[in-house]
Amino acid sequence: MKTFYIETFGCQMNAHDSEKVVGTLLSRGYQQVEEPDDAELVLYNTCSIRDKAEQKVFARLQEFKKHSKTKTFGVLGCVAQQEGEKIFDRAPHVSLVAGSASYSKLPEMLVQLETGDKRVTGLSLDTEDTFETPMTRRDNPYKAYITIIEGCDKNCSYCVVPYTRGPERSRTFASVLEEAAKLSAAGYTEIQLLGQNVNSFRAPDSDPSRPLGSDFAELLRRVGQVPGIRRVRFMTSHPRDFVRDIVDAIDENPVLCNHVHLPVQSGSTAVLKAMQRQYTRDEYLRRIDWMKSTRRELTLTSDIIVGFPGETEQDLQDTLSLLSEVEYDAIFAFKYSKRPNTPALALEDHITEEEKSRRLLMVQEHQRAIQIRRNARHVGRTEEVMVEGFNKATNHWLGKTTQLKTITFAAPGELAGEYRRVMVTRAGPAALAGELVQ
Ligand code: 5AD
Ligand code: SF4
Repeated sequence: MKTFYIETFGCQMNAHDSEKVVGTLLSRGYQQVEEPDDAELVLYNTCSIRDKAEQKVFARLQEFKKHSKTKTFGVLGCVAQQEGEKIFDRAPHVSLVAGSASYSKLPEMLVQLETGDKRVTGLSLDTEDTFETPMTRRDNPYKAYITIIEGCDKNCSYCVVPYTRGPERSRTFASVLEEAAKLSAAGYTEIQLLGQNVNSFRAPDSDPSRPLGSDFAELLRRVGQVPGIRRVRFMTSHPRDFVRDIVDAIDENPVLCNHVHLPVQSGSTAVLKAMQRQYTRDEYLRRIDWMKSTRRELTLTSDIIVGFPGETEQDLQDTLSLLSEVEYDAIFAFKYSKRPNTPALALEDHITEEEKSRRLLMVQEHQRAIQIRRNARHVGRTEEVMVEGFNKATNHWLGKTTQLKTITFAAPGELAGEYRRVMVTRAGPAALAGELVQ
């Protein structure tokens, strides 16, 4: 029996890609192990969104270099696609370098490795395929990811993803719905639709004259009707293609969760333009207004980049005022990081690390106060959670509400995967605590 170990970095797309890669390996007779020391094949599924993420994989490869005679190493994912064959120069003990657009060729690549090839690559971005496999080995027995669209055509000026994941390719309605129905039959109750821009989903079999975003709205409506599925989430959306019909679809059906992640990146129209985001602050805020006028209360989350080249003090103030105006329930804020091949590299007025750190802190502190206020509103409410896990250190269960709020609570018995009603008794900036309602 051949053994393998896989470590995954980066986003949920990567996490789900790894589930498909693991399934592919298991179906070929490999056995997964928990420690790299026990594995013959060691795989890293990598992220290159920011420089720090990219450095991690080279640190790992360095750590295990001494095993280069007894183990086979593979680099998958975004760093593989971005660095390509240069990885062999930097880490000569690596034998496989493959980007996500090549995973459907994984079985062939494994055969090449098994027959002793020392330099196997899968680096073509010229693909119309999506990576689908009936063998996906999901990590969680209650909530499942389903990829609906791969790649990205948006070309934000700071972002590597178009170079690491290739052009947008959508699946068909039928294949997504079939997967959702199978997952429901297997006992899953929550589904998360995944894609770099889920709302740019455009089924290959759909009428090309249909307006932007309507395919995604229709997909939401249809997945929301799959019997047995109690919750549907989706991640990530791009504001440009976020049309009102999507908000209407959510409003119609409570199975579609009361939460939308709609990354704004900056509150300044000038910075958004330099980022090539294809919307203004006002256009973004219009979408927020739609979501604030739904019958059920939606929570909103976002990504923010600070210190983009040329960002002025006023631009930063615009981001802070946008945070106050929207009142997000959570944000992920990042310092701008220079990425290879991206247009933003050529911009002037790059900002020092020290200044970026100062701006990041300002954004985080500003948002923290908003979250404390937002979360305090939940105290006294009774909310339904899907129980996701147990924290042994605190003896508390951890559940998620439809709004993606975490509530911790104490309760006897085995509750993982169950839906329970919890009354919120305390609120902090990041999570809520409560008591089980019998
Ligand atoms: N530097 C910093 N943050 C980035 N992101 C994407 N590219 C960069 C970059 N070069 C952030 C964006 C995106 C999130 C996934 O990562 O905010 O929404
Ligand atoms: Fe990282 Fe982006 Fe690749 Fe996801 S798609 S792994 S965030 S670089």
